[in-house]
Amino acid sequence: MHASALDSIGNTPLLALDRVHPGPGRVVAKAEYANPGGSIKDRPARQIVLAARDAGVLAEGRPVVEMTSGNMGAGLAVVCAVLGHPFVAVMSAGNSPARRAMLEGLGAEVVLVPQVEGRPGQVTGKDVRAAAARAVSLAQERGGYYVDQFRNPGSVAAHATTTGPELWNQTGGRLDAFVACVGSGGTFVGTMTALRPHGVQGVAVEPAKAAILSRGRVDDPRHVIQGCGYGVVPPKWQADLCDHVERVTDAEVVATRRRLAEREGLFVGFSAAANVLAASRTAARLGEDAVVATVLCDTGLKYL
Ligand SMILES: Cc1ncc(COP(=O)(O)O)c(C=O)c1O
Repeated sequence: MHASALDSIGNTPLLALDRVHPGPGRVVAKAEYANPGGSIKDRPARQIVLAARDAGVLAEGRPVVEMTSGNMGAGLAVVCAVLGHPFVAVMSAGNSPARRAMLEGLGAEVVLVPQVEGRPGQVTGKDVRAAAARAVSLAQERGGYYVDQFRNPGSVAAHATTTGPELWNQTGGRLDAFVACVGSGGTFVGTMTALRPHGVQGVAVEPAKAAILSRGRVDDPRHVIQGCGYGVVPPKWQADLCDHVERVTDAEVVATRRRLAEREGLFVGFSAAANVLAASRTAARLGEDAVVATVLCDTGLKYL
């Protein structure tokens, strides 16, 4: 038995995706949608709130405020509910309406910020920066703790202490590469921090038209991979942990997402599909004996 939902974060199942990637090599993925808030962002949410309480910058009962594309908000809502903090989620209006319903359902107060560049379903870096500015001023007005997931060291630490070691244990130390798309970069950098000492290669995934990591330029900031690919190199990025970048198009991601549902029974979000596509290419590149791990960041149900 877990003492609370907090203790049910992490230790997610590792799934072999042998039907969507029959070979060469093997693709395995952690089912991050199994976290209580429904995504991989529960891990940094727990890490950040507990660290802020420990450091004395978040007092008992004080509000927590964050700009979120939805998933960090869900994770923070879960963590804040258990620990007794009001939570205010500041979100670009371009994110799917289901995300707002999810956050409100989890007990969060949701503040929507109008888009300045993208269109509904396609949130750009400028849209995110507009929402972040509103979150900063709200935190000041309410005397709350501003999470700032892009700069908070907990975004990386959560994965360095949980996702990375879990993957190493679950694969029995047979792991050649880790593949992940990049939003704050916490998943990629943190997991690779734990796996690099074991000689695991890091492969980042980015939208083909917003290839800031591999080409240093953004041709079109709009794409379907909500939660990542903001067209900026995130502050916590560590290029030395990245051996290769896979670029994926919207059409490829949509097709992979369909195949995951039809062949694996996994209805996941777009970033999860982007990860699986890039992991499949990586396994094919590394050859027959390769084991390539990635993360299924969230479920597809919130993108309806
Ligand atoms: C659906 C989804 N995928 C991927 C990511 C990227 O994760 P990270 O911020 O750790 O790079 C996020 C981040 O919010 C997300 O919501």
